[in-house]
Amino acid sequence: MSNNSDLVQIRPLGHTKLFQPIKVGTHTLPQRIAFAPSTRQRGTSDYYPTDLQLPYYKARGQYPGTLVITEATYVSPGGAGRANVPGIWNDKQAAGWKKITDAIREEKSYSSVQLWHLGRTADPAQLKHDGQPFIAPSPVYMDKDSEEQAKKVGNELRAATKEELEDLINNVYPNGARKALEAGFDYVELHSAHGYFLDQFLNQGTNHRTDEYGGSVENRARLLLAIIDKLIPIVGANRLAVRLSPWATFQLKEFDGEEVHAYILKELQKRADAGNELAYISLVEPRVSASYDVAAHDQKGSNAFAEKIWKGKFVKAGNYTYDAPKFETLLHDLDNDRTLIAFSRFFTSNPDLVYRLKNGVALQHYDRPTFYTHDNYGYNTWNQHDGNKQFDKEVEQKRVGKVLA
Ligand code: PHB
Repeated sequence: MSNNSDLVQIRPLGHTKLFQPIKVGTHTLPQRIAFAPSTRQRGTSDYYPTDLQLPYYKARGQYPGTLVITEATYVSPGGAGRANVPGIWNDKQAAGWKKITDAIREEKSYSSVQLWHLGRTADPAQLKHDGQPFIAPSPVYMDKDSEEQAKKVGNELRAATKEELEDLINNVYPNGARKALEAGFDYVELHSAHGYFLDQFLNQGTNHRTDEYGGSVENRARLLLAIIDKLIPIVGANRLAVRLSPWATFQLKEFDGEEVHAYILKELQKRADAGNELAYISLVEPRVSASYDVAAHDQKGSNAFAEKIWKGKFVKAGNYTYDAPKFETLLHDLDNDRTLIAFSRFFTSNPDLVYRLKNGVALQHYDRPTFYTHDNYGYNTWNQHDGNKQFDKEVEQKRVGKVLA
């Protein structure tokens, strides 16, 4: 955590497009680096952001113009279902987040929130504890464990009703987006990737509906597009974004693939052509499935199709360090004027990642066992390139977050 024994050598990228300005919505960022949304579970057990998160995000925004996309954040109590993840549906949560976005802004960096609904990937016991139903497009359990648990606690997975979907479109997502604006976020991103609720609608393995939200590509994409259309006048298209993972099989049996995503991107491009271009499309590269690498021979496809359809900005994420120190893929993908590169795992372990990439300072390897713990060890205990503080593991493990309000 504080010693640099496990290092990944890199070369300086300061002279590359990574460090040239790019316009994202209304802001011109001086460089093209984003912190990809990364679940870290340092919120409170009842979904508030904490004082541990404040220095964590401030440090990751310390180089001006970094796009700090905060972790997936529950849009509503019904979208929750795992403890220690923050939400953004009430004023107290928004007040906590405001301190975080203020800190990022003080560094002259930019913040984006990722609105999250777990759907079938929630813990049915946690939802039950919160008095919430366990809903998904269709009652298709993620696995046997989820099914057994749901039955045991008496909160079985069921298809969301049309009224519930209309409520999500007309009230739940608009409320989350409004709270995000009150909280001072520069951008609002919808999480429609990695097998979570909105992605469960896109995927044929999880969406067996026979109404207008299931079946054809148009129907499976309907919920996401309806939410986007509802949010455009509330947030402003130029502050709105969406995350998609066409090739990930994370929490899914089959990847979604090109067809449904090509349709979504065509629809979004239509809106762009009519004057409502989203700030960015966040696209997960086929090299990863959530936070796991996918071996080259298991990679399912390519995102090249997306570039042909969507003419706006992309934030691309997915193991861009795999070919360090050459960074050929990163440089290839930057070879246009509409791509930002996002890092997740190496941003967790290098608060000064931007400096390191610019100057070719070796990266501290990330520490997966501390990704989802709830204390400060492995969270705010990474040295900067010029630091050598020794952190006491026992002390830091006792440091748990307090509500930021
Ligand atoms: C996770 O918590 O495992 C997680 C969250 C959001 C993602 C992927 C994985 O997009």
